[in-house]
Order: sequence, then C-alpha cells, then structure tokens
Amino acid sequence: MSARIVVVGSLNMDLVVRTPRIPSPGETIIGRELHTVPGGKGANQAVAAARLGAEVSMVGRVGRDAFGGPLLANLAANGVDHAWVQEDPDAATGVALIEVDDAGRNSIVVVSGANMRLTPADVDAAQPALAGAQALLLQLESPLETVLHAAQLGRRLGIAVILNPAPARPLPPELLAAVDVLAPNESETALLTGRSVDTLADAEEAARALLDRGVPTVVLTLGERGSLLARREGVQHFPAFPVTPVDTTAAGDAFLGGLAVALAEGRPLEEAMRWGNAAGALATTRLGAQPSLPDRAAVLALLASAAEA
Ligand code: RIB
Repeated sequence: MSARIVVVGSLNMDLVVRTPRIPSPGETIIGRELHTVPGGKGANQAVAAARLGAEVSMVGRVGRDAFGGPLLANLAANGVDHAWVQEDPDAATGVALIEVDDAGRNSIVVVSGANMRLTPADVDAAQPALAGAQALLLQLESPLETVLHAAQLGRRLGIAVILNPAPARPLPPELLAAVDVLAPNESETALLTGRSVDTLADAEEAARALLDRGVPTVVLTLGERGSLLARREGVQHFPAFPVTPVDTTAAGDAFLGGLAVALAEGRPLEEAMRWGNAAGALATTRLGAQPSLPDRAAVLALLASAAEA
C-alpha cells in the first residue's frame, strides 16, 4: 500500500525570468526568456511527493481565472487529488515573480491572492483526505490561523505534521507544539533563531535552539552543504549529492516531498534525509518548480549510485 500524504498550502503560477544576474534595487537589466510554470510551495511539495509514489491530496485555493485551471490540471496530470482545492470567485490565483541567474540562484516575490483566503473550515472539509494519511505537509504561504488549525488537527488525528516555515516569520508556541518535524532552510533558520547560519557549527547551534523550543525533530536544509537532522539524542549531517545546478527553485520543496514520502513509508529518519537530499539535488538540475521535480526511479537511482561509490 502506498503512503498517503496531505498537503495544506499554496498554489502559484510562477513567472520565471532567466537573467545573467539578479538586478540591484533601482537597476534595469535585460533578461533572456520568460517561462510560465506551475509552482507554489504547497503544490510543489504535493507534486514532489506524488512523483515519488505517494497518494497525495492537496488542500488550497486558486482563483477562477486564467492561471487557476492550468494549476489544477497540472496537479491532476501528476496524480494529485485536488478535490479539496477550491476555485475562489473573489480572488486571483497566486503568482510568483521569479528571477533565476546564471548560477541557478533565484529571488522570488509572491503575490498570494487566493492562497491567503484558505480557512480552517477548508481544512475541516478535507477530513476525509486526512483520515488515514501518514504525513501532513504545511508551509507558510497560507494564513497562519489555517496552518495552526491544520497542524492541531493533524496532531489529533495522529498524522506526522511536517512544517516548512517558508516564507519565514516568527512562529507561535502553539504551532511549534503541534509540529513533529520543523524543516527550515538557512535564511528561515536565521530568522527563527536570530542567529546567522554561516557554518555547519552555526547550523548545529541553531538547530539545537529550535529543539529547545519544543519541536522533537528539526531538519535544516543547507543548499549545497546538504542537510542537518537534529533530535534530543544528537545532530547528524547529511552531505549533498554533487550536481551542477541550473535553477534552485523548488529544491527545498523537492526535499520536503522526499522526506515526507520516506517517513510515510515507515523508513527511518536517516534514510528519509537521504531521500530528501537526493530529490532536492535532482530538482536543481532543471529549470522551474514543478517541471524540475524528480520521479521515484531517478531518486532511487541516485541513492543507489551513492551507495555503490
Ligand atoms: O519554493 C519555490 C516556490 O516558492 C515557487 O514555486 C514560488 O511559487 C514560491 O511559492
């Protein structure tokens, strides 16, 4: 039986410009190409998990406009159940404006639109999907009240609650109390802890500071430095798989998808970290958010090649 995962979160249409470099404030530069690509942290994590073999349901909102339908169609094409994604007649579909430079780095501005109208009642309506799920994935591109409600419901239902606190913002203690795995990246960790995360030693200290706030498991994604798993019993570093990045957009979402699928399949956390690293690395080798997310065969092949090396 395959793993069952629910994602409560955002759907955006990404308008992606390839550019030699990210412009400074006040500067105009000429970009290369414009791509219109399905994205949004929630939908990316849903598609990532589905491509890795999980049964995935998505809870969210899009507008009844030119971007909403294609985003739902893309979820369906990837086997994600979108019965719980409403088409909101009073809001526009979320849009992300993304610049990607020649080193594959990005800068992103999100216009949330319908995503910020997702309500606790929308989550309650999706209880049939939540019943029997092993993992619940949450991010912060939805109202905090809704994220908190989903986390507390997931906790009551005995589902592993995984929170990717992106984009970063201070987190209330009642949310941290309902989370099983907190998974920020470096900049989110810096905001949450007030510490810079320049070295692995910094990352370890920051992870311990997050554990001290009551979360049982902290997973830090560290880009080309891999990821860090922190629990009361200790901290472990998992080096990244070496790849040449084209676009790092959604690498973190791919990591979350890999981590969630492996955990939902009952694999140990250490193995789930390697699944996350493999999915994240592969996602950087292609342009765009959802088009870059790897399938299960690609992740298993990368894991096997690393095991042989
Ligand atoms: O994590 C990447 C995502 O962040 C993009 O797809 C964009 O939509 C923003 O939500």
